[in-house]
Amino acid sequence: MNPSHMTFSKRTNWHRQPNKLSRLIDSLRKNGKSIIDLTISNPTECGIGYPEEEILSAISNPSVFHYEPDPRGLLSARELVCEFYKKKNIVVDPSNIFLTASTSEAYSIIFKLLCNVGENILVPKPSYPLFDYLAQLNDVELNYYCVRYDHEWQVDIDSIKTAINKDTKAIVLINPHNPTGMYLRQNDYRGIVALAKENNLSLIVDEVFIDYAFESEEGRTASTAGESEVLTFTLNGISKMMGLPQMKLGWIIVNGQKPIINEALERLDIICDTFLSVNTPVQVALPKLFDAGKIIQQNILTRIRSNYSTLITQTLNSSCSALTAQGGWYGIVRVPRIKSEEEWALQLLETKGVYLFPGYFFDFEDDGYLIVSLLTESFAFQKAVSEIVDYVSTV
Ligand SMILES: Cc1ncc(COP(=O)(O)O)c(C=O)c1O
Repeated sequence: MNPSHMTFSKRTNWHRQPNKLSRLIDSLRKNGKSIIDLTISNPTECGIGYPEEEILSAISNPSVFHYEPDPRGLLSARELVCEFYKKKNIVVDPSNIFLTASTSEAYSIIFKLLCNVGENILVPKPSYPLFDYLAQLNDVELNYYCVRYDHEWQVDIDSIKTAINKDTKAIVLINPHNPTGMYLRQNDYRGIVALAKENNLSLIVDEVFIDYAFESEEGRTASTAGESEVLTFTLNGISKMMGLPQMKLGWIIVNGQKPIINEALERLDIICDTFLSVNTPVQVALPKLFDAGKIIQQNILTRIRSNYSTLITQTLNSSCSALTAQGGWYGIVRVPRIKSEEEWALQLLETKGVYLFPGYFFDFEDDGYLIVSLLTESFAFQKAVSEIVDYVSTV
């Protein structure tokens, strides 16, 4: 037997070989080929304007020299998070907030709170790839429900019903969903709450992209930060909301009925007290970061709206089409199924220097989808989309 199998846990026994696409991009980059990157998800690396002076002044604060450990995070920072929701007409009690280092960490904490080994959480399919790792690291199983496209994206409520079994503990809702950009409809949300109530499940609602709508529209589910019909964990953080992933600050808002909510808060206190993972500098910087964040968010919104509109107009009357999205940082292009997604991605990279992800990276059920980041600098984005349209029409 390979000795590493005896040394390390089975849960870390991951397949780590680079795939064909990552091998190709590495070799092209080594050879100096110019590439347009449509996979970029890091807003600090794509020419978005940041108010640097304001951010530097936010972190230069003498309060960083004092350490006041609190499993929920500094009260002053939690009160600012409450202010943020107040502007959305949602009342949040600061004692129901747990600050975390990131939304990913928040998921992990909630999985630990809710699940015994082998119990499961429902997550949407397609979705972004982090869930597999989060579930494995917490010995939790994932069951899937579907998000389907028919002129626009929609949650398949029947698939949620089918996926629930006796070991299901929670349903993850991503509003708006990544990578499809679908906002959750109020009717669907009410149906999901009813299912959660009936089956004694919690809801985990990820709202990291909620402020990135392309247009406003009636009927969308607003933040669930004030919802208490079932035990609900609402997640957000400054990584996406303010385009500041390097600052490492997220939060969980816990709502529900008494006494279950008190039990949740006390158990979370112990989990978070074990790690105390949120750093003091970001918490004391938060008032000024909220101000700077408005400018950054606006700059990101301008970029993604302009790129989404480019995507729609440039793919009109072509052999590929852009799927309708309502917000978020990604666009989806449907290409003819005469090749596999992987072949399309490899060939676009090799022949046109356009680097994008095939849909199967995000667990799309069917073949024929390519995912493009709307964060890419707008001129490069236009060029990349015209290369895609051109390539698809000539093969
Ligand atoms: C929908 C969604 N939720 C959460 C995260 C993780 O965010 P954070 O940087 O706060 O861990 C991501 C990252 O891509 C995401 O797409």
